[in-house]
Amino acid sequence: MNVAEVRIERLQVSDAPALAAFYNKLSPASKRTFRPVGETTTDEVCRHIAIGNAGPLSTKYDVVAWQGDDVVGWSFIWNLHEPEPVFGLAVADACQRTGLGTKLMTAVMAWAREQELPRVELTVVTDNVIAQHLYEKQGFIGYGEFVGEDGLSYYRMRLDVQDL
Ligand SMILES: CC(C)(COP(=O)(O)OP(=O)(O)OC[C@H]1O[C@@H](n2cnc3c(N)ncnc32)[C@H](O)[C@@H]1OP(=O)(O)O)[C@@H](O)C(=O)NCCC(=O)NCCS
Repeated sequence: MNVAEVRIERLQVSDAPALAAFYNKLSPASKRTFRPVGETTTDEVCRHIAIGNAGPLSTKYDVVAWQGDDVVGWSFIWNLHEPEPVFGLAVADACQRTGLGTKLMTAVMAWAREQELPRVELTVVTDNVIAQHLYEKQGFIGYGEFVGEDGLSYYRMRLDVQDL
């Protein structure tokens, strides 16, 4: 895959079926470390996420990566008006380790700086070294560890956005 040819765009309501198809095709290994809306999703759930991006008081900032008519990556910051907005990121299995995760995250964090968000939080499974490498490169710092309801160990990481 040529990352330069992938288009990164803000999620629209009409993208819901393509986002649901992307999510439901993620492998069990990817779902182990990324399942913000559960094991599987629906067009309706994705439509609801897209609606959260609409209007001046939007609570979510979601971008999707397009390769032709297919969504091949998704990144977001949710809970925009809460003290701790939450970051998420996933790339289609066939497109991982091509630089697409970096490209998506760079786009979302540039938006966070423009919006003057004070802080962004995330959690990452402790053995997910690729994601941790990416997050540290973007300036996130680990500050805690916990065991999730799924029995996996997670690090908490955060970024004070305006310090960058
Ligand atoms: C995590 C994820 C989003 C990263 O996206 P990606 O497109 O695969 O990542 P990139 O190709 O942009 O970058 C990978 C980086 O990890 C590095 N890397 C690769 N293998 C590595 C390893 N075993 N240990 C440490 N770093 C490694 C690469 O060198 C690259 O870093 P560099 O740019 O400094 O060279 C993607 O792998 C994914 O979707 N995984 C499944 C879902 C997931 O875990 N999401 C995150 C939840 S917190």
